[in-house]
Amino acid sequence: MKVHNVFLEAVGTKMDQYPAEGLPEIAFVGKSNVGKSSLINGLINRKALARTSGQPGKTQTINFYNVEQKLLFVDLPGYGYAKVSKDHRAKWAHMIETYLLNRQVLRLMVVLVDIRHEPGEHDKMMVDWVQANGFTPLVVATKADKLSKNQVQKHVGRIRKGLSLKESPIIPFSSVTKQGKEKIWEAIEEALVQ
Ligand code: GTP
Ligand code: MG
Repeated sequence: MKVHNVFLEAVGTKMDQYPAEGLPEIAFVGKSNVGKSSLINGLINRKALARTSGQPGKTQTINFYNVEQKLLFVDLPGYGYAKVSKDHRAKWAHMIETYLLNRQVLRLMVVLVDIRHEPGEHDKMMVDWVQANGFTPLVVATKADKLSKNQVQKHVGRIRKGLSLKESPIIPFSSVTKQGKEKIWEAIEEALVQ
């Protein structure tokens, strides 16, 4: 998709703040600091429309980006951020779950994992949840620029095993080199026509 027009359509924590259901939605989920906002910026050719930060916990609301009036990218707050209270974490979990369980227009869940690390308990839960709800997860392994080419394939295999994924794709991506961007767009466009 050629992307020129993108804008932040809505920001919400609760359902009544979501935009009316119309355009198909692609949701981005993953651990805090994994690179969700950076991936969204990469896909829409913008440096910083989605705010990023070296500090985990940057995105604390659900942000809906309108892409070419054709679809919405949904930037969800990251899970598993250790430095916040239990109460705060429970609120985040509730926010993410409320979105995922109630959105009819959700077409694809992009689950991000850091290519350098073994998937964590939350990553596994998220992938299992996506599958249990009838979606095929698109797993994106972020920060691929931090590894050599040989290591990339090795780590993809490790992630596949860690998530017990059989056929779902795992696409290495780097927001620095933009490696993987075309493949991710292909998967998104495929999900839109289904
Ligand atoms: P939260 O909003 O806190 O959940 O984080 P996020 O998942 O949106 O992560 P964000 O995009 O803010 O990126 C976190 C940090 O990782 C930033 O310092 C980014 O510059 C860095 N980062 C993200 N993607 C990449 C990548 O592909 N390569 C490298 N080298 N750094 C990356
Ligand atoms: Mg973010």
